[in-house]
Amino acid sequence: MIKLHEKYFKPFISAQQIDDALARMAEEIANDIGDEIPVFIGILNGSFMVVSDFVKKYPKPCEVTFIKLASYEGVKSTEDIQRLIGLTQDLTGRTVVILEDIIDTGNTLAEVHRIFRNENVKTLKIATLFYKPEAYKKDFKLHYVGIEIPNKFIVGYGLDYDGLGRDIPEVYQIKETQHMTNLVLFGPPGAGKGTQANFLKEKYNLVHISTGDVFRFNIKNETALGMLAKSFIDKGELVPDQVTIDMLNAEVEKNADANGFIFDGFPRTNAQAESLDKLMESKDSQIDAMIALEVDDEILVGRLLERGKTSGRPDDADESIIRNRITEYYSKTAILKDYYNAQNKYFGVDGVGSIEDITVRLSTAIDNL
Ligand code: IMP
Ligand code: MG
Repeated sequence: MIKLHEKYFKPFISAQQIDDALARMAEEIANDIGDEIPVFIGILNGSFMVVSDFVKKYPKPCEVTFIKLASYEGVKSTEDIQRLIGLTQDLTGRTVVILEDIIDTGNTLAEVHRIFRNENVKTLKIATLFYKPEAYKKDFKLHYVGIEIPNKFIVGYGLDYDGLGRDIPEVYQIKETQHMTNLVLFGPPGAGKGTQANFLKEKYNLVHISTGDVFRFNIKNETALGMLAKSFIDKGELVPDQVTIDMLNAEVEKNADANGFIFDGFPRTNAQAESLDKLMESKDSQIDAMIALEVDDEILVGRLLERGKTSGRPDDADESIIRNRITEYYSKTAILKDYYNAQNKYFGVDGVGSIEDITVRLSTAIDNL
């Protein structure tokens, strides 16, 4: 991943793929043109790399020149008329091939056609390394296309984002979601997860997704996914992972411009951890860390018994039930600790001390990510 100005981009097209595409184009164009000497014209600035690499692959003699289109100063309109800089050569009767880095809406191409109308060239062919068919709004024929790409902003290989990125030898695509910090929060019952999640979401502007809350919300509001989940629960069956993932996906999409998420109560199995990784990947994002509050069993038992005196939760009142819950937590989460450890994403944080002290420890772990 790279960052240009405030935006993040992910690897998209390798230098090798570009090289292959240019080799194909050079061969095809040479076959079509035959022994005539063409004039290749690059449109600056974006095309400088394409032209340079292309003509090195062109197997026959050729001429190379560049032009630049510049907006008239002070003129501001959506389809502004451009003026041409650099066309000094007489092109009468010549075979001209425009070499473009990218054709997007086709506005630039329309200008090129307008300008070449008066040049009396023999043929005018258009070649572009990248082409966004979904964005193209014109009818001009594109004679040679290197690589068709989706309508998403790219940088590198001559293409820039606000001045930066032209020098990069491969192509990057803008990320769907911008940079997020996504945490999986873990802790045995009584570790203070809920309290800490509240602090963290405030401090880092994260969205706290507690799977339990998401379930209750969907079921209460009778969403399609909620009804589906309920049908399994009513039969006494486990809700399939895919249903849970679909609910989480809906939560993530609702908050697409969040700084990130705190997942709480999910994943609980390796399969779920893998599904969550896939979900984040589909959003061009990732799980950055599993943060686990570590608290000694005896302290947990003490805390929960204390809470049981006021919470009214029956499962907080009985010491043997409490110990069972703690044991079950460790037996279930050990695999997840291994899963995230294998990716260097497991961070155990000492959960004993004052609430503020623990918040500071958690923040330190997050700030170091
Ligand atoms: P047009 O929309 O076909 O006229 O493209 C206009 C110009 O916009 C291109 O020559 C590029 O300079 C720029 N452009 C279009 N799409 C991209 C992109 O994805 N990344 C960087 N520049 C782009
Ligand atoms: Mg261009």
